Amino acid sequence: MKARHRQHFLLDRSLGHLNHGSYGATPLPVLRQQWQWQRQMETRPVEFHVRRQEEHLRQARQQVCHYLGAEVDNTAFVVNTTTAMNWVAHSLVLGPGDEVLLNDHEYGAVFRCWNVLAKERGFRVVSATIPLGADALACLQAAATANTRVVVMSHITSATAQLFPVQQVGAWARSRGIWSVIDGAHAPGHIPLHLESLGVDFYMGNLHKWLWAPKGSAVLWVSPRCQSLIRPLVVSWGVDPVHPIAEPAWVAWVQLQATRDPSAFLAGPAGVDYQRRYHEKLIESHCCRRLEQISESLAQMGAVPLPWSRPLKMRAFHWPFPQDPGQLHRRLFEKHRLEVPVYSWNDQLIVRICLQHYVCDSELERLLEGLSESRVLTSAL
Ligand SMILES: Cc1ncc(COP(=O)(O)O)c(C=O)c1O
Repeated sequence: MKARHRQHFLLDRSLGHLNHGSYGATPLPVLRQQWQWQRQMETRPVEFHVRRQEEHLRQARQQVCHYLGAEVDNTAFVVNTTTAMNWVAHSLVLGPGDEVLLNDHEYGAVFRCWNVLAKERGFRVVSATIPLGADALACLQAAATANTRVVVMSHITSATAQLFPVQQVGAWARSRGIWSVIDGAHAPGHIPLHLESLGVDFYMGNLHKWLWAPKGSAVLWVSPRCQSLIRPLVVSWGVDPVHPIAEPAWVAWVQLQATRDPSAFLAGPAGVDYQRRYHEKLIESHCCRRLEQISESLAQMGAVPLPWSRPLKMRAFHWPFPQDPGQLHRRLFEKHRLEVPVYSWNDQLIVRICLQHYVCDSELERLLEGLSESRVLTSAL
């Protein structure tokens, strides 16, 4: 099966980009939209920032929210998931005796955010172990205590590419009076979403990964019952009673941060259009079929595929041959011209592949060649 719409991307053709999960490639129709917004901004800066920006942002958010099944007043644009996670973590009032429950699949920067605050404020971060394929909710329930105040969980994990049952986790957390914070960095555009029906308290998701938006575009969704908890961490004109604005206070605090370039947010709807026009259904199943094929080939070479289900276009494999992850990563990049993440997770060497429609067969062949070569090198040690 072949790549499709490769011409939509500025990607360097000498390099195979198998890492859409870390940095999504943005298609030209979306970039053009962003450049048009930037042109407007530069043509009449005062008009744009003072008189038009707020209205443009609300309209863009309405279109993105429609796609995500979210209410516009429950959603704010943020530059990335990390910022949204920090915003929530800093807003919740926690202290000695309180526990925040994460798990061993969570993203490094998310752990860091909670660990730094835990040190400052005196609460504890607890990490549940969730064995691959295990019942994730049961593992969280086993690790929770009477002191658990917050549960933080990815919708789709980064290191292991697992789809976690966040709806069940949200329902359980609510029944126990625990705040649920869902890291949906990989979810928008990757899996069907209806944020209003998930039953969680806080949800943050990138538009700049799987929803094709330019870098610096994400959303923070907050359930109505938790919006009063959100603090103004960057105090800007949005909180000034002298300049009343139409947005809810919490949205203004999070979204309006003095002078900055909002073009990545404003191009969000173009990402939704691209998804609807070029990606949904046919191309998605084309990518999943190709991922299944490459998984079979890798399994024949001895790789152990981690649990996976459609429609994920990202899959992780345990590579059981002893190797230094950094060395294997470098070799795949330098010799085989591939951007593919290789790292250690729970003492297992993991190779993660993302299959978008722009990936060429020759790039997948180079991956098989590179890994097969590394296996031979290992056996020669
Ligand atoms: C699960 C997860 N959470 C958070 C992030 C952070 O995303 P960003 O760098 O856009 O803040 C990532 C990035 O890959 C991720 O995979």
